[in-house]
Amino acid sequence: MQILVTGAAGYIGSHACQRLLADGHHVVGLDNLHRGHITPMNLLAQQHPDRFTFIQSDLGDTPTVLAALNEHRIDTVLHFGALAYVGESVEDPLWYYRNNIASAIGLLDACDAAHDAKGITRFIFSSSCATYGDLPDDRIPVAEDAPQNPTSPYGYTKLHFEHILRDYATKRQRENNPIALTMLRYFNVAGSDRSGLLGEDHTPETHLIPVALNTALGKRESMSIFGTDYPTPDGTNIRDYVHVEDLIDAHVRAMNTIEIGQVEAFNVGIGKGYSVREILDSVKRVSGVDFPVLEGDRRAGDAIALYNDPTKIKSALGWDAQVTDIDEVVASAWAWFKANPNGYDD
Ligand code: UFG
Repeated sequence: MQILVTGAAGYIGSHACQRLLADGHHVVGLDNLHRGHITPMNLLAQQHPDRFTFIQSDLGDTPTVLAALNEHRIDTVLHFGALAYVGESVEDPLWYYRNNIASAIGLLDACDAAHDAKGITRFIFSSSCATYGDLPDDRIPVAEDAPQNPTSPYGYTKLHFEHILRDYATKRQRENNPIALTMLRYFNVAGSDRSGLLGEDHTPETHLIPVALNTALGKRESMSIFGTDYPTPDGTNIRDYVHVEDLIDAHVRAMNTIEIGQVEAFNVGIGKGYSVREILDSVKRVSGVDFPVLEGDRRAGDAIALYNDPTKIKSALGWDAQVTDIDEVVASAWAWFKANPNGYDD
């Protein structure tokens, strides 16, 4: 296939490009490099000079995206490009709506106009379990039919764009020119590619596993657990950590399984929760470093426990997490952090 990957230079987007190239596809990576890195793009271009093209552009730059879609005869779009910090979205909601909605509509305009207005064939959207917000206990583990009431502007950007995509798919259906649309709602994505080429390098870094790895590396003196008085067995939050390569495999399966005219949403998480303390124990075990951990206050907006009910994705896409041992997830990330203590060069 000929595939456009938005947010290609980011953590998840770069892993997607790598897998798609390994599978023999032609890939165009698009990224404005606001938070992404050029280094992984260069690494992939060196490995696959004939099948990988990187374009530096905003995804809302409709003329540039349209030209790329037409020139490379793109049939499938994997849309990862977005701002993705809950806290930041509370501080600057308009920026989040402009980026994750207005720019994404610019992308959709290009997808609609491509190929002499026939449009692209398949669209896969990175949505989030943040679209569910706080759920009652009887909705955990979370299935796709749980109510979606986000608690942050970030979560709303993802939910609104799901609605926009559904409306767009309906329009294509009405025009007898249907599209295959998949929305994948990620739980906590972690780890990195086990060949060691790609990693996770965010600025700022707020996610639990990379923060803990940076502390193990001595780049931080200590780190904090955000809340130890939650009603969970060890008092800390519980999350579902899905390995990034398994996450990308869900996209590949959606690409190959969801048929033209179908509109589907799937949660992507392993179906098992780990507490913050369990994650930190794993990082200490894997790294062999006993770094200082402080017990801090709760972080605003954190749900108590969130983990997936993978029934739907298992039955519809045949997807199941291959990496379920948290030490394996952490070890893949630790290998890259140790080899690249300062992250990507650029
Ligand atoms: N945590 C700490 N200390 C830290 C960092 C995190 O204790 O230094 C805790 C958090 O309080 C939380 C858990 O570790 O309980 C996981 O936190 P992350 O920041 O790694 O991930 P979140 O669960 O907050 O966020 C993830 C995705 C978001 C998505 C959200 C939906 O990264 O994109 O799930 O709930 F929106």
